[in-house]
Amino acid sequence: MKVFVTRKIPGDSLDKLVNSGHEVNISDVGRALTTEELLKNISGVDAILSLLRDKIDGDVMDAAGPQLKLISNYAVGFDNIDIEAATKRGIVVTNTPSDEVNEAVAEHTWALILAITRRIVEADEATREGSYKGWEPDIFLGHSIVGKTLGIIGLGRIGTMVARRAKGYNLSVLYNKHEPDLQAEQEFGIKYASLDELLEKSDIVTLHVPLTDKTRHMINTETLAKMKRRSFLINTARGQVVEEGALVQSLRHGDLAGAALDVFDNEPNINPELISMPNVITTPHIASATWEARNKMGEQAVAAILDTLEGTKPQNMVDEKVWDIRRK
Ligand code: DGY
Repeated sequence: MKVFVTRKIPGDSLDKLVNSGHEVNISDVGRALTTEELLKNISGVDAILSLLRDKIDGDVMDAAGPQLKLISNYAVGFDNIDIEAATKRGIVVTNTPSDEVNEAVAEHTWALILAITRRIVEADEATREGSYKGWEPDIFLGHSIVGKTLGIIGLGRIGTMVARRAKGYNLSVLYNKHEPDLQAEQEFGIKYASLDELLEKSDIVTLHVPLTDKTRHMINTETLAKMKRRSFLINTARGQVVEEGALVQSLRHGDLAGAALDVFDNEPNINPELISMPNVITTPHIASATWEARNKMGEQAVAAILDTLEGTKPQNMVDEKVWDIRRK
């Protein structure tokens, strides 16, 4: 069968796919494909290994043809794929959640929390520019996090791993989720809060929700106004959860103390004002960028293709019910 891989991925997981006997075409342009390039390459394929920058809607699925059986998305998030359109067509969609990815994102979240509260990036830049003239009592004063309150919005797998680490730093943790998670409360000593209460009480708010119609721009002028004065916002989830213009206003007026962002509303573009602020840290969507995580993502994405094409139900189906109505 025919498989198209929209971009070469790190590690050697693609070797297994190439050696599987299927006809595998791997894009070698070394960047995300344009829609035209994507359409040209997927015509007639049975499976696509896609990246989160590949926008795959119903038209793209139809352009591939009625034999398209699987979209194996090399990401935990799948907001780049129209899931409803795939389900309607009996196309299986899989993603790549794993402990390796979740731990990597939780680690990056903590790296950002510590970096923004202790002004690590600003201090590093100043040192490199030669402004360090010896110890001084008042340079780069930051904020200690011990005893402060961390607010976790979205207590899924990643949010839970972030909560677990909070114990070691001695923070109190509030979380918000569609319903309380009593097991997590017991295990990590965390407390459920309504969104408003969490925003009002947290010194640091970190986002771990998927991007859906409900979460798009959930951090906006109104919700930012509810945040505790001089608190910090961390986003390693999806950029569109935050309305960037509103965030800029809040930082400009000194309501928020700072923000650390790995994801942006309109990637790869970043609001120029945001990126010029010293109390903002930006990383280029690298929260899952560890060898461990990316190897696992590759393994899972390839396994989903091999299984599905052999007629075995793959792991990590986004919509499990498609299996019974899938294209064969
Ligand atoms: C994901 O997996 O959804 C991340 O955003 C990229 O690895």
